[in-house]
Amino acid sequence: MSYRILEKQQYSEKVFKFRIDAPKMAAHAKAGQFLMVRANECGERVPFTFANWNADEGWVEFIFMVVGKTTQMLSSYEVGDEILDVTGPLGQPTEIDEGRWCVIGGGVGLAIANPVARQMVEAGREVHVIMGARTKDLLLLEDQFRSFLDDDHLHITTDDGSYGEQGVVTAPLERLLQEKAVDHVFCVGPVPMMKFSALTAEKYNTPIIASLNPIMVDGTGMCGCCRVEVGGETKFACVDGPDFDATQVNWADLQMRQAAYRTEEGESLKAFEEGSCSCQK
Ligand SMILES: Cc1cc2nc3c(=O)[nH]c(=O)nc-3n(C[C@H](O)[C@H](O)[C@H](O)COP(=O)(O)OP(=O)(O)OC[C@H]3O[C@@H](n4cnc5c(N)ncnc54)[C@H](O)[C@@H]3O)c2cc1C
Ligand code: FES
Repeated sequence: MSYRILEKQQYSEKVFKFRIDAPKMAAHAKAGQFLMVRANECGERVPFTFANWNADEGWVEFIFMVVGKTTQMLSSYEVGDEILDVTGPLGQPTEIDEGRWCVIGGGVGLAIANPVARQMVEAGREVHVIMGARTKDLLLLEDQFRSFLDDDHLHITTDDGSYGEQGVVTAPLERLLQEKAVDHVFCVGPVPMMKFSALTAEKYNTPIIASLNPIMVDGTGMCGCCRVEVGGETKFACVDGPDFDATQVNWADLQMRQAAYRTEEGESLKAFEEGSCSCQK
């Protein structure tokens, strides 16, 4: 069975949204869960968080940023094209506890933070969002966050000060925690950002969830590729997560595992760009 692209939207040079025909998945998807895509017979399987879904109309959406070969290949797909495999819903849904939330997204993590924050707002929670990026050009989905947040609830930081407040996400987080404006924190993005967000929230005794993004292969708990250490125990992010208590995560281990295939990822992208990759559409 293949999955037809019903809509394609381009948000910026490297960020796209696909709506695909997937009635069974749409009937079961929940906030924070993800799907795994294999574009064609030679393609690898890669995970994306559900950005939206409609059970009555039978579609699901995901937003992705082009970072390597598979996302580059997917970005060339058009409306009417078919994606070979899409598996989901996978993972545990995000638990949207009662209370006020701060959602932090950094870099490509903003593509995951966006649907989670929107679904919290739809569930009636007060939500602050902190968007962080190295520089203005890498800040994703600002308009999409503004569509459900007012200015007082959207905080933007860039490392170089090219947009928003200069600095990192922990500065506005610390202010919100000092003001006792939030009861729970959710973060997703680069490991150092999640690690320091966890340390900041812990200082104020505020619970913090991190959506972890280790490399996943099968997404169903069988290959062990996505294992992470949480509270001294081994967990599989694809079935036990992807959300975990951020204060309990072994961040050094996660960072090392994420970087395990950097060389191969670079070579694969180069081959794809040169047209010599067997995955070519
Ligand atoms: C649960 C989960 C949900 C995610 N949701 C989104 C999302 O909604 N939008 C989005 O843009 N990105 C999301 N990602 C990240 C996305 O899966 C990677 O950006 C994508 O796999 C990159 O593939 P590539 O071939 O283009 O890049 P590559 O060059 O192969 O890799 C670039 C980087 O992406 C990561 N990556 C590569 N392959 C995988 C893999 N199989 N599994 C996980 N990470 C991988 C690694 O950190 C790697 O260093 C999610 C990751 C996880 C684990
Ligand atoms: S991706 Fe294989 S066990 Fe999680």
